Amino acid sequence: MQKLVIQGGRHLEGEIIVQGAKNSALPIAAASLLCDGEIWLENCPRLSDVYAACRILTNLGCRCRMQEHTVTVDAHGMDSSEIPEQFMCEMRSSIIFLGAVLGRMGTCTLGYPGGCELGPRPINLHLQALRRMGVKIHEENGILHCTTPNGLHGARIHLQFPSVGATENILLAAVTAKGETTISNAAREPEIIDLARFLRACGAQIAGEGTGTIVIRGVKQLHGCTYRIMPDRIVAATWLAAAAAAGGELSLRCVSASDLESILAVFEEMNCRMSASADSICFHAAAPLRAVRTLKTMPYPGFPTDAQAILMAALCCAAGTTVIEETIFENRFRHVDALVKMGADIRTAGRVAVINGVRSLHGAAVEATDLRGGAAMLIAGLCAAGETIITEIHHIDRGYDSPEQVLRSVGAEIIRV
Ligand code: UD1
Repeated sequence: MQKLVIQGGRHLEGEIIVQGAKNSALPIAAASLLCDGEIWLENCPRLSDVYAACRILTNLGCRCRMQEHTVTVDAHGMDSSEIPEQFMCEMRSSIIFLGAVLGRMGTCTLGYPGGCELGPRPINLHLQALRRMGVKIHEENGILHCTTPNGLHGARIHLQFPSVGATENILLAAVTAKGETTISNAAREPEIIDLARFLRACGAQIAGEGTGTIVIRGVKQLHGCTYRIMPDRIVAATWLAAAAAAGGELSLRCVSASDLESILAVFEEMNCRMSASADSICFHAAAPLRAVRTLKTMPYPGFPTDAQAILMAALCCAAGTTVIEETIFENRFRHVDALVKMGADIRTAGRVAVINGVRSLHGAAVEATDLRGGAAMLIAGLCAAGETIITEIHHIDRGYDSPEQVLRSVGAEIIRV
């Protein structure tokens, strides 16, 4: 079992090139199976979730390989429409393959995704939307059998909630469906824009991505292309939070500052200074850090749920009291116990956490509870006095490409054992 061992208290100084976005690479990898012709995806992060997506593609009969940071997909030989249950358990977001497999094969059989470490992850909005597009769904013993007796057709779909996963599944099903699909109250996350751009580079007709209304006109066929995955805004936020907590000056490159607006606003309120250009951010940590107004997680462009644990870790030693409200997931405070073990003063009640800033944290042995919760422990360990040992780091490896190497390159004392 691997673990990360951190000697805290070192300032971070230097430059980090931000990795490609997991939440963009995964749906785009799924979208690749819709294309007639080879797909080259550049800037793919080397993550266990990306490897899992490659295994799903291979299992469906596609040729998929990863070299350095480029994934190539050739879906010519795709001959299966079944996603075995082990893949659904391995990666919750394998549900985004549903729309793509239906678009390509007209049928799809897959395990019902259960709950996960963040609480229940329902897919009712995905299924309701696909039904409107002509999909018949029969559920038996937790397995979904999806068919399209009369083919996929366009539809007007209003999402009750701007679900990222549902918007992706509808896009993937709609690009080669017959006729026009309109999604209203669509998710506006930058990763949705990246998926739409990729699909357009393959010949899809899509308009309105990044707004609440996306219109897709189905085309007969998509072709291959070479596409560069966007930078990961949550990983960028993680490195900034690490610098805020541990102190120092960081320069992030290959980052899209405009996608990070709601997060940068919080760092500013914490008293950190920064200057951003289109693809770089220079960041100076504040001393002392200040607590901020209530943080409430919201769909984009609001403050992202994925940055909640990360900012909480940075706020543990900020002067004053911060209240965080988690509105997206029921169970997203599992990292709190570890932060408290490290000396933080945090109380939770339901979906609200109250953080009273303390003078310092101390190292401890902690277990990563989930991907971003694990990242929060990493941040706390970097600013804590003494040694922090994080186990269950497979959660962290789902979303961070060689985090110990990145952090060592800017002065942190951290090793993987
Ligand atoms: C969510 C986040 C996304 C993040 C990802 C991984 C939002 C809006 N989405 O995406 O930014 O990267 O987790 O942490 O912040 N829901 C339903 N029925 C559905 C689908 C969703 O009720 O069919 C509810 C969920 O229970 C949850 C909310 O909608 O409360 C968020 O859903 P969604 O955006 O679909 O989740 P992900 O796609 O996993």
